[in-house]
Amino acid sequence: MWRRWCCSRRAASAWPPWGSRWASSGKKKEEALISTPIFYVNGPPHIGHLYSALLADALHRHRRLLSGGSGGALATGTDEHGLKIQLSAAAAGTSPERFCDSISAEFRELFKQAGISYTDFIRTTEPRHTRAVEHFWTTLQERGWLYQAQYEGWYCTPEESFLAASQVTERPDSQGNLHTVSLESGHQVHWTKEENYMFKLSKFQEPLLKWLQENKAAITPKLFYQQVLQWLEQDLPDLSVSRDRNRLQWGIPVPGDSTQTIYVWVDALVNYLTVVGYPDAHHAIWPAAYHIVGKDILKFHAIYWPALLMAAGLEPPEKILVHSHWTVQGQKMSKSLGNVVDPVACFQQYSVDGFRYFLLRQGVPEHDCDYYDEKAINLVNSELADALGGLLNRCTAPSLNPSGTYPGFSEVSFPREAYAQNGRGSGRALAEDYMLVSSVKDLPLQVNNSFERFQIYKALESIMDCVRQTNGFMQRHAPWKLQCKDPEQELWRDTILHIVLECLRVYGILLQPVIPTIADKLLSRLGVRSTERSFKNLNFLSRYHGEKSPFEGRRLGPDSGLLFPRLEKAKNRSCGDT
Ligand code: ME8
Ligand code: MG
Repeated sequence: MWRRWCCSRRAASAWPPWGSRWASSGKKKEEALISTPIFYVNGPPHIGHLYSALLADALHRHRRLLSGGSGGALATGTDEHGLKIQLSAAAAGTSPERFCDSISAEFRELFKQAGISYTDFIRTTEPRHTRAVEHFWTTLQERGWLYQAQYEGWYCTPEESFLAASQVTERPDSQGNLHTVSLESGHQVHWTKEENYMFKLSKFQEPLLKWLQENKAAITPKLFYQQVLQWLEQDLPDLSVSRDRNRLQWGIPVPGDSTQTIYVWVDALVNYLTVVGYPDAHHAIWPAAYHIVGKDILKFHAIYWPALLMAAGLEPPEKILVHSHWTVQGQKMSKSLGNVVDPVACFQQYSVDGFRYFLLRQGVPEHDCDYYDEKAINLVNSELADALGGLLNRCTAPSLNPSGTYPGFSEVSFPREAYAQNGRGSGRALAEDYMLVSSVKDLPLQVNNSFERFQIYKALESIMDCVRQTNGFMQRHAPWKLQCKDPEQELWRDTILHIVLECLRVYGILLQPVIPTIADKLLSRLGVRSTERSFKNLNFLSRYHGEKSPFEGRRLGPDSGLLFPRLEKAKNRSCGDT
């Protein structure tokens, strides 16, 4: 219904555009777009940027395993226009083009190194993007959403944003001179007065509220949904969407008016349409878009962007997934504050997967999270090296598993719970063992639900909880103490190993979106083929559930060393040293 309205020329002038229900797009999730913000190229990438990209990557990989297909598109890239970039290039004594090329390449290189499975890396200086932005602008203009007006206000260049009087304050600098600064970022603001194009944002207060009331999960976590509702209860002034070309040359000129440059945020937001083929082919995917953004740019994504889309006759994105910030000693890590942690140094210190694991396990979207090296070392040592690596080591060690196989499972040693409760059979399994089997059986569902709710840290928490239970199982039955010469004890020992290997196989499959290299090493060691690693292959402990197991009796894969070697405490160096 909505799409027909959008496409019909006659209806293009119909009013109001939100007359139709904001039904969910109904697209298969497989075809959806997952996006990260496109990052400013005014400085090299830091772990905050990497975190957004990792969240997107883990969701994308997870979706791929779930569907067994491509998992849809994952787009990232760089935001290269605007006053901030123009000034940074000038300060570096180079042209904006060369400046952008070099820093954009750093982002691309970092994401490659981090294993970000992006399907598109967009730069806003590409011709395909200019075309999309020009088309978008012209559509807004034709639909009557733009007008020219004298505009004045406080401009904050690092935020590329005009601020209201309530968003600024006066603060003395180190010499005691008073400056007006942004309350939120602390950056100095400048009074700016220009003739600009304005977007009739004020007309979208009601439609935005309606959209959010009908789509309560459109902004996740809830806390940020509430925050947007609060903003929408206040005044929503029209938005200045162009800059005087004399002041800002580094950007896309307003079509038909060479004295004005399109505002960098309009330019940047349209990237999400460019990557789905706007203005020609976007209907195949849009609005099935999941935007991952930091809370610092929530207003742009949850208010300006949906309003601009509605004005252009398109639906708002399906979901905006918001995360909080990494801080260093309580302060937001930021290029402009100069307190950034270098991701490449972290990869050297923790390995790529070690660091991926740390960020995704510790980062909680609802809260800011403080970074320090000791926390990262302790976490990866205790969970990856000791708990997971130790478990694999134990059940593949030649002393315990001399045949180097996935040993057989015995229903006599480990009868189904119902038999054991009836006192039948002579099983050796204890109540806690049945609890373990049931936890691991339920784990995939829990992990999927956590991913679906954008709580990847919770998915990892549940996996680690099961890893701990599995270590407890091993410890409780100490298979290394069993007498191999006694057939009954041997059956029991094999059964213990079979169960632990099955648990590890499930953990390996479920951990692939977060630590792809370690998961691959683990699954290869277990002899799990690459065609046996999607979620439909999970089929945990099929022998216990009365079915055959393709793994029983299979040779383990070659030993390629420790799964994750323990890390030393950093003595002199830390990733935060610049
Ligand atoms: O805002 N912790 O680009 P940007 C966690 N170009 N995430 C962080 C972070 C931190 N300390 N610092 C940055 C822009 N990020 C615009 C976006 S999108 C159409 C245009 C992440 O280079 C987080 O995702 O300032 C944040 O929203 C984004 O980087 C801002 O990057
Ligand atoms: Mg920023």
